[in-house]
Amino acid sequence: MIEQILQNLTTQYIGHNIKYFDEIDSTNTYAKQLIKQNVPEGTLVLSNIQTQGKGRLGRAWVSAADVGIWMSLVLYPKLKPEEISALTLVAGLAMCQSLRDITNLNIKLKWPNDLVLNRKKICGILSELIIGENDEVAVVVGIGVNVNTPKFNKSLPFASSLFIESERQFNRADIIVNFLSEFEHLYELYNTQRNFSSFINMYEKLCLNIGEDVYIQNNDDKYIGHVISLTEKGNLLVKKKDGNFEEIFSGEVSIRGVGDYV
Ligand code: BTN
Repeated sequence: MIEQILQNLTTQYIGHNIKYFDEIDSTNTYAKQLIKQNVPEGTLVLSNIQTQGKGRLGRAWVSAADVGIWMSLVLYPKLKPEEISALTLVAGLAMCQSLRDITNLNIKLKWPNDLVLNRKKICGILSELIIGENDEVAVVVGIGVNVNTPKFNKSLPFASSLFIESERQFNRADIIVNFLSEFEHLYELYNTQRNFSSFINMYEKLCLNIGEDVYIQNNDDKYIGHVISLTEKGNLLVKKKDGNFEEIFSGEVSIRGVGDYV
């Protein structure tokens, strides 16, 4: 896989330094250690298996051998800490567009950072922010794509893979190469503009939640909101039952469809 990536890479710097493992605990954990060694921006950590893959909100991420993309990017964005969270949306958008390109499947975004096919989750993103001793900012963007996974345990009713949904196998290196190029382009744009305005249209077109009612769960607080739009910070603007509007920050929140996962 690694040779195929290196041969076909078209980026300026994203993915030029690749650390590949047959097995690792978590590519995010390893990427965070690399930051201490000042590895170059765009360093990619990639593994064929993760034994302790991490999901959002403290969940585990199933990362079996040979069937998925388990990778983390090291970034040093020129952004303020409050501008960082939208980077996850930028990565989700880049992956959504790459997968649509390569597979021709109708893959959509579930805000803030799930990719969904036929109302099932096929990709998740976990970004971690690291602030150094002199306030320098580093980010690890960890992405898991269920590419050729043949099946999932019943305990994960909303999980699926490109293979399960389409009965087609996809080449993981092709997806990675396409994503790295798409991501580099969007990352440069976000780093220069420092807000999500130019992305709102692109994101909303692909986002399943717009115009829908969703449950918004923030710690112990759970309520229904009608999704209006995205904001220039990448937050979700919802209208609550009492008629008030609220801007939902992507941080620790989880949203669920009123009927099902989407
Ligand atoms: C989620 O949707 O909960 C986020 C899942 C993120 C999984 C990826 S796989 C590569 C990277 N390493 C990890 O331990 N997690 C992320």
